[in-house]
Amino acid sequence: MVIAIGCDHAGFALMQALRESAFGDHRLLDRGTHDQSPTDYPRYALAVAKAVAAGEAERGVLVCGTGIGMAIAASRIRGIRAAVCTNEYTARMARAHNNANVLCLGGRVVGPGLAEDIVRSFLRTEFAGGRHAARLALIDGQGN
Ligand code: RB5
Repeated sequence: MVIAIGCDHAGFALMQALRESAFGDHRLLDRGTHDQSPTDYPRYALAVAKAVAAGEAERGVLVCGTGIGMAIAASRIRGIRAAVCTNEYTARMARAHNNANVLCLGGRVVGPGLAEDIVRSFLRTEFAGGRHAARLALIDGQGN
C-alpha cells in the first residue's frame, strides 16, 4: 500500500529508524520534514492527512515528540481518524475498532523497536466493521 509519512524535528530520528525497518515493501509518500531543524508539526500533519483524505495514500504515519499534536491536527481533516498509539494493543484496536487511517507516534515516548512493532500492527490489522462502523458513523453525524 501507499503510506504517507511525516514528522517534525522531534520525530525525525524515530522516522529515520522506521524508514529502515518498519515499512517493508510499502511505497512511501514523504511529506517531510527532512532534518532536525525546529519546525511546526501541523504542517506535516496536515500534508499527510490531506494525502490520505485525497486517496493518494491509504494510510499515514506521523511522528512528533508525543504524537499528540500530530493527531489533533490531522484529525481536523474530514475523513481522517488519527490515533496516538503507544503499544501493539492500541495500534491493533485503533485499526479494528476505530478504523484509524493515520498512526501518530511520539519520538520522545517510544523507542525504535517498539515503534516498529506498533507500525507493523497498525498496517496489518483490518477494520472489524459491524457495530464499530455504526459508531464511526455517529462521529460524522450519520446514523442514530
Ligand atoms: C516539539 O517540541 C513538540 O511540541 C512536538 O513535537 C509535539 O510533541 C507536539 O505535540
